[in-house]
Amino acid sequence: KDYWIIDTDAGVDDCQALALAFSCQDSHNFEVLAITVLAGNVLLPQAIMNIAETLKACNKENIPFYIGADRPLISTLTPATHIHGVDGLNNYWQREGKSREDHIKPQSKSAVQAIIDLAHEYSGNINIVTIGPLTNLALAACQNPEIISMFKRVLVMGGAVHYRGNRYITNEFNIWCDPEAAHIIFERFPSIELVPWETCIDKEHLLDLDFLRSYISGTSRVGKFIGEITAVREGRTTVHFCDPLTLAVAIDRNVVVSGSKRKGVIELKGTTTRGMTLINWGSSDMEEINEAVPNLFIVEKVNMEIVKQMLLSSIN
Ligand code: BDR
Ligand code: CA
Repeated sequence: KDYWIIDTDAGVDDCQALALAFSCQDSHNFEVLAITVLAGNVLLPQAIMNIAETLKACNKENIPFYIGADRPLISTLTPATHIHGVDGLNNYWQREGKSREDHIKPQSKSAVQAIIDLAHEYSGNINIVTIGPLTNLALAACQNPEIISMFKRVLVMGGAVHYRGNRYITNEFNIWCDPEAAHIIFERFPSIELVPWETCIDKEHLLDLDFLRSYISGTSRVGKFIGEITAVREGRTTVHFCDPLTLAVAIDRNVVVSGSKRKGVIELKGTTTRGMTLINWGSSDMEEINEAVPNLFIVEKVNMEIVKQMLLSSIN
């Protein structure tokens, strides 16, 4: 079995990604050991509620979840509530008038400590996928640098590697949210698999409305939950699914059709470039990054037939 930690900021596509992950545990060599939560898409208390609700809807209350960073290391937190609603779940909580009382409880250990402890316990066979800002993992790596070599796979959803970002041209949300944390991860982890924003919005990786309609029409408990949190927006004919796509790459590396090994660094300064993921695409005359050893495998093409199958099986 491959053991995974999922580090998440609990927006809508994070919760869809969790449902996908849980549904693949029996059919794949994939086991979720822990969920670590942090602020990003939404504030931390909301993120905790969203994760508790997702675990409940997926009938996975037995999977422990841990509370992490309530803000970036230095930047001011700016949640993405203008995109996914104040609760990050397209106003699921307001609409459903859900009770907040019967929530399953997070563990008392912190997310950072859980990452450190699990890395030691499963050293060499521990993997982490981050689908939010990199604050928790950066704190864990700084507090206990030994863990860096213990991870088998470190998979990150983030970065606007061709400067077509979703927060300014130069920026993707997860990296932009906490550039210092991302800088620590890019500098210290020798081999990161990166699913950048542009891979998520590649037209071959978008989901069309017909597919989306099937995806939101599940009748099981988890299927109904997915249907309730997923927005079908007027006038939009396709949607991107960043975090589920990234989870699919975690669950089955064979979904990756192509990618490239590159050196990437995170820019920390500049009015428009702070939080930029700067990649050496090979034609630059910037010697310092041209000569450096690649630290990234950038996922470029994925097999959407497999991803779609996984998504559909996650709602049943
Ligand atoms: C990332 O930002 C969040 O809004 C999504 O959940 C995803 O992790 C995309 O930039
Ligand atoms: Ca996310």
